[in-house]
Amino acid sequence: MDNCDLHVNALAIWKCTHLHFLFNAGVIRTCTTVPVIHPAISSGRAETMIVPRKSNQDLIRPRSRRNSYVLPKYPVPSLQETLDTYLKTVNHLVTREQYQSTKAIVDSFGATGGMGELLQEHLVKRKENKVNWIYDWWLDTMYLCNPLALPVNSSPGMVFPQQNFQDEGDQLRFAARLICGILDYKVVLDARALPVDFARGQLAGHALCMEQYYRLFTSYRLPGQQKDTLVTQKNNVMPETEHVVVAYRNQFFVLEVVINYRRLNETDLFTQLRRIVKMAGNEAERSPPLGLLTSDCRPNWAEARKVLIRDPTNRDSLNAIEHCIFLLCLDEPIDVELTDLNMALQMMHGNGWHKNSANRWYDKTMQFIVGLDGVCGLVYEHSPSEGIAVIQCAEHLLCYIKETARKLVRADSLCELPSPRRLRWKCGPEIHRCLASAADKLQRLIENTDLNIYRLKALGKDFIKKQRMSPDAFIQVGLQLSFYRCHGRLVHTYESASVRCFQEGRVDNIRSATKEALDFAKGMIDERASISDSKKMELLWAAVDAQINYTVQTITGMAIDNHLLGLQEMAKELQMDLPKLFTDKTYLMSNNFLLSTSQVPTTMDGFLFYGPVVPDGYGVAYNPRLDQIIFCISSFNNCKETSSAMFAEAVEKSFKEMKDLCVKYNTKAKLCFLGNATYTAQNGRKSRQ
Ligand code: COA
Repeated sequence: MDNCDLHVNALAIWKCTHLHFLFNAGVIRTCTTVPVIHPAISSGRAETMIVPRKSNQDLIRPRSRRNSYVLPKYPVPSLQETLDTYLKTVNHLVTREQYQSTKAIVDSFGATGGMGELLQEHLVKRKENKVNWIYDWWLDTMYLCNPLALPVNSSPGMVFPQQNFQDEGDQLRFAARLICGILDYKVVLDARALPVDFARGQLAGHALCMEQYYRLFTSYRLPGQQKDTLVTQKNNVMPETEHVVVAYRNQFFVLEVVINYRRLNETDLFTQLRRIVKMAGNEAERSPPLGLLTSDCRPNWAEARKVLIRDPTNRDSLNAIEHCIFLLCLDEPIDVELTDLNMALQMMHGNGWHKNSANRWYDKTMQFIVGLDGVCGLVYEHSPSEGIAVIQCAEHLLCYIKETARKLVRADSLCELPSPRRLRWKCGPEIHRCLASAADKLQRLIENTDLNIYRLKALGKDFIKKQRMSPDAFIQVGLQLSFYRCHGRLVHTYESASVRCFQEGRVDNIRSATKEALDFAKGMIDERASISDSKKMELLWAAVDAQINYTVQTITGMAIDNHLLGLQEMAKELQMDLPKLFTDKTYLMSNNFLLSTSQVPTTMDGFLFYGPVVPDGYGVAYNPRLDQIIFCISSFNNCKETSSAMFAEAVEKSFKEMKDLCVKYNTKAKLCFLGNATYTAQNGRKSRQ
């Protein structure tokens, strides 16, 4: 069989199994006809829905053939509407005086013939010349220019359902199966043949951009002094050799997965993994734990890397890691109770250099972790992709593993496999100093991390839908209430919302700390307010509606954060003095997200989480399941104001109160029920039967 046959056959087999797995797992739904729905209707409550502030004429879905959709370009919203929304989002979060000062600055920026108009014109031109006008600027701002260490600060982790390994053989068999699953998946990625995703929820039915998936196994984040570089291999069709890097006991090994144009099967891979485990036992050949360097802040690691590459042995080892498909980290047992929290910490940072933290290479996009104690999951470098693509990929792999585990194990491979290769390093005193310093900083970061995994069992997505409310909007309002309960105020909040309806779309921000959410929180908590429960219910509806409106604006490309960032970056590109709008205290504060949130739904019992994005804030990833919501709350111990446990308690109390309120006073839900109205999940419309 030649290269091409292997590729085509594998692709055909993969397509059948992939679709079968994903469909069974509920990860995808088949879609032959795609309904076109106006966002205002898709909330399911067209009668109370306020039409979004601007309609986006671009948001049609031209379609050439199945699985090949030409998506519209990411739009540039109108300047005036962005400025109006900006003022609206900050008004209730700053003092009166500060607001007046900000309003004057904004008015001057947006005046006819002013700076704003000029920058806007340039943005519109940029849109014409780029696939996605915000992409590069957004990527730099969100990730590549962030000098902070990747673990905790940037790289999310995901816990898989715990495995039950009896011994090392079980661990390695699982790992071999995982590699096989990834190689299968990669065949389809290399052929750019993944079935297109379609939006669910508010924009149900719209085809989504798939580029993020194609970066998962082809990218690497190179550290830089001022700025990192995301290197993505564009052409990856059947290179002669392909390899995975296996980390075991802080040593790194090259495991070739295509040898003589033949892809290794599960038995081959198991044999190779066993060899690696044996090789790692050779104490005489042990290298220092070089992976620790990648956990340092980016400029430090960039500096250390410069020293490393002076030596050809190191250059060769770095090259092998930088060009591998992914990392497989075979971890030592964590030796603590296997709670959600302990498993999550294992993925987030590996629990210190004396445990598994050095058994990583944080620059590599995908690192799969398989522990001897059955603790499995992944940690991924965030810049190439959002969590949604990572979750879809992981769930596909878990289905694959489950399915293939039922099948008969094939006989031992007959061919003679070359031994995996240990990566070697030449380290002088300078590198040893860097290693000691990186280990020390990582230890402090770990000790400073306050993570809490809270499973709210009082309600899930099902209950919220029955209230005729959007689950995501309800949860966001609940988080605002929880924050208010803890801190007596609301703060600028980030909710990542996908803009994958557009070419190369990533995310923009839903600013969930709306005026309506503040009114609701005050109504629920301030004793002085002492308002009736039915009034509280009204406030809850108003807050949920406001949240949905902002959501629709955002996912249709009409939100303000990316637009304002674009205007700011354009001023820099034109070498103009930065307009006052962007140096104003309000603007700076409005980009300091003390509450950074994200919906990360899974269909299996895994969950995804990340750290806070500022030293004195919270990161909250939430996973709405049918009958429960998993909240992964993070903050830093050295901040006196925050506490993840306190926030989790507030979440418990707030959501229970909201549930009670709905059960007793949500007459809209009752009316719908009496009128026998059903909400069709497929298109998000309410239909009367
Ligand atoms: N009554 C009853 N059901 C409703 C409803 C209502 N009023 N409004 C929505 N629903 C249903 C939806 O149809 C959907 O049904 P489904 O489960 O069958 O698909 C479900 O409730 C969820 O919809 P909703 O809660 O409105 O949320 P959503 O799925 O549209 O999610 C965002 C909203 C913003 C989270 C989503 O658009 C998004 O952008 N996700 C990506 C986030 C991201 O990037 N995360 C990773 C960051 S690393």
